[in-house]
Amino acid sequence: MEKVALVTGGARRVGAGIVRYLHDRGWRVALHYRSSSADAQALADELNARRPESVALFQADLLDTAKLPALITQVLTRFGRLDALVNNASSFFPTPVGQFTESAWQDLLGSNLKAPIFLAQAAVAALRESRGAIVSIADIHADRPYPEHTLYTVAKAGLVAMTRSLARELAPQVRVNAVAPGSNLWPDQDSVFDATERARIEATIPLARTGTPQDLAQAIHFLLEAPYVTGVILPVDGGRSVVL
Ligand SMILES: NC(=O)c1ccc[n+]([C@@H]2O[C@H](COP(=O)([O-])OP(=O)(O)OC[C@H]3O[C@@H](n4cnc5c(N)ncnc54)[C@H](OP(=O)(O)O)[C@@H]3O)[C@@H](O)[C@H]2O)c1
Repeated sequence: MEKVALVTGGARRVGAGIVRYLHDRGWRVALHYRSSSADAQALADELNARRPESVALFQADLLDTAKLPALITQVLTRFGRLDALVNNASSFFPTPVGQFTESAWQDLLGSNLKAPIFLAQAAVAALRESRGAIVSIADIHADRPYPEHTLYTVAKAGLVAMTRSLARELAPQVRVNAVAPGSNLWPDQDSVFDATERARIEATIPLARTGTPQDLAQAIHFLLEAPYVTGVILPVDGGRSVVL
């Protein structure tokens, strides 16, 4: 039976790269999206043309915590099993001191931390049954803060703590790991990373290039299939965390 991964925020960018990579290696994919329905549908159509009924779409705003158990139930109803939860969905924007608002807190902590925690709880029975795994996408800046991004940094640091805590609590049935990207895809619209800032960051990456969604997906796939690895935060950053 082909394994099933739920990838959150899987319609575009890094998430779509993860979906493609896992699908190429024989996984079936529950592709979650929030607003990017056209991208999600196009990706599902393309992958289902290669292997019929191997990808299904699930729409949800992950800030609506009460609906997360239903999301897992829908995935189980459609596929009959769940082997992996990949927490990729995320919001990202600066919050300098003075701009800490309730709505920024809800958005940044909600998508990057609260949703992964409650999704993990909703998925744990199915993951125990399948001897499955959770992989979350953290950030090298969880440890080494990027200026004026306190709420995002706190959320990703919490995601790192969640990874270690659940790795301990859910063993030996469920493995729990994270990847920590450096600079993979620059945000689509961004006032933070202007051309000068991008060049400055790129000049500090030992492997002399920004990462790709495939670089991250390869590491995620490794963590999903590595039977003796749990509680690990794996930097996938071209070596940048070494020099930060
Ligand atoms: N890109 C990088 O260089 C980089 C660097 C460090 C860490 N990361 C981490 O890597 C992951 C992927 O990065 P990315 O740049 O590809 O992410 P992204 O494009 O900023 O966001 C990915 C998806 O998250 C979904 N999302 C956001 N808020 C949501 C919510 N409340 N409910 C449901 N879905 C929500 C969106 O789905 P819809 O479009 O469907 O609304 C969006 O397409 C993220 O966890 C990010 O923090 C990325």
